[in-house]
Amino acid sequence: MAKRGKFGILISGTGSNMKALVQAAEQKQIPADVSFVGSDNPRAPGLEWARERGFDTFVVDYEHIMSFGRASRSERRDVAESDLRYELWHREYDLLCLAGFMRLLSPKSVDELSPDPDQPRIMNIHPSLLPAFPGTDGYGDTWRYGCKVGGCTVHFVDHGEDTGPIIDQLAYHFAPADTPDSIRAKGLELEHWLYPRCVERFFRGRLSVRLNSAGRRVVLVKP
Ligand code: GRF
Repeated sequence: MAKRGKFGILISGTGSNMKALVQAAEQKQIPADVSFVGSDNPRAPGLEWARERGFDTFVVDYEHIMSFGRASRSERRDVAESDLRYELWHREYDLLCLAGFMRLLSPKSVDELSPDPDQPRIMNIHPSLLPAFPGTDGYGDTWRYGCKVGGCTVHFVDHGEDTGPIIDQLAYHFAPADTPDSIRAKGLELEHWLYPRCVERFFRGRLSVRLNSAGRRVVLVKP
């Protein structure tokens, strides 16, 4: 029997995408097991859930580290990131899934954790149809802009903010009665469907990265 893969998950908050990934792995839709759940936030509700389920969990308390008095902001961020890399370094995983992890990984961390840009191994889910509305509030930004369509994107992580090769996207129309809360709820429902399927494709060897004619790295999905 083929060896099952392993993936780690990083969260900052509720962890509803983490739960969708855990469920898909437990139901064997994803042919891999969750090897750990990490967070930058000791109070993340999703972390408690993961602990209760018996997962290996860890915290790198960014807020605490970022409050260190004398160091500069970038020095403090370096400390937090090197702590994060240390936690990841002694854990086993084939893929790292950012699931509502609200911290940017520096190019140094991306290069160390995912050294070959042609075989990336960090994935993220983002609440907008990238490249529109990168950043921390994709659904809110889509709403405030007055878009008629919103959506979510799963992509590999590169050096930029939400700029990496796109794996897949799902879209929905806004209805006249929609509110910021209702579009977030619609979006999350799509996220929970899409993210496990992208992770599944990764572990089934269906994703490859190529340079396209515009010189951009893009993802090819094998049937
Ligand atoms: C999701 O909308 C995700 O796309 C974004 O942050 C939110 C996290 O939600 N990056 P959850 O913690 O997975 O419930």
